[in-house]
Amino acid sequence: MSGAERKVCVVTGSSSGIGAATARLYAQRGWNVVINYSRHPDPAHQVADECRAFGVEVLVAKADVADDDACRRMAAEVDAKWQRADVLVNNAGTTKFVAAKDLDGLDAADFERIMAVNVTGSFQVTRAFVPLLKRHPGSAVVNLSSIASKKGTGSSLAYMASKGAVNAMTFGLARALAPEIRVNAVAPGMVDSTWLREGMGAAGFAARAEAYRQRAVLGELVLPEDVARAIWWLGVDAVKTSGEVVMVDGGLL
Ligand SMILES: NC(=O)c1ccc[n+]([C@@H]2O[C@H](COP(=O)([O-])OP(=O)(O)OC[C@H]3O[C@@H](n4cnc5c(N)ncnc54)[C@H](OP(=O)(O)O)[C@@H]3O)[C@@H](O)[C@H]2O)c1
Repeated sequence: MSGAERKVCVVTGSSSGIGAATARLYAQRGWNVVINYSRHPDPAHQVADECRAFGVEVLVAKADVADDDACRRMAAEVDAKWQRADVLVNNAGTTKFVAAKDLDGLDAADFERIMAVNVTGSFQVTRAFVPLLKRHPGSAVVNLSSIASKKGTGSSLAYMASKGAVNAMTFGLARALAPEIRVNAVAPGMVDSTWLREGMGAAGFAARAEAYRQRAVLGELVLPEDVARAIWWLGVDAVKTSGEVVMVDGGLL
């Protein structure tokens, strides 16, 4: 199969964690992939090499999703290289770890940055890629939500609010982009990830992980690869599903 005939999956924030696992899964299944990051090129190029090992083509695109011009430049690069995008995964996200009771631990700038990346960023990337997504039938957007959007727990109140907004935007975009493009979200629970290990510290992570295992009916944390499989399902196989938020939380909720 030539490069331009393969389907293309664009994964924002794919230099680590869930995004990297998603890019690897799509590449393993024969898709060309876009690896996006905003700050650290080395891990992005490492994930790109891992994807190329599956025999597909890879584009590494530096773009802060909060910067609309950068989102549009990324879409133009993909258009120039492959003239298509079949699945867009809005995975890039940020937070600030602040206990919910510590209301003074968050200020307006924290809210603005978290919303700018998690909500406005997902919107801007989607808007930039809609013309490419509409070029071939069966395309889809998968947004990264979180159990934080439904449970009132999570790294901070600003993060919970941002993921609630991602859910609402998912419902609206599912209507706005139908019938050509399906739009869904995946909401992971506690993922065994650098994000949480660094954010909570080693002792905090171990304690929360143990509590999570006790309460989740499947008795385990979620792995980035588990989320990637749900993103594959929503992106490719769930052909009659749009406007859903699918939990991947080991049955905690
Ligand atoms: N980890 C969890 O337990 C968990 C649970 C529920 C939901 N989620 C959601 O899942 C998504 C991925 O989480 P993760 O744990 O896999 O995170 P991660 O390992 O920290 O990876 C974050 C990725 O996003 C990139 N990134 C950060 N800010 C960006 C920006 N403004 N523009 C473009 N790329 C940016 C990072 O690269 P650079 O630093 O180079 O930019 C990196 O590639 C997030 O939306 C998060 O909210 C995570």
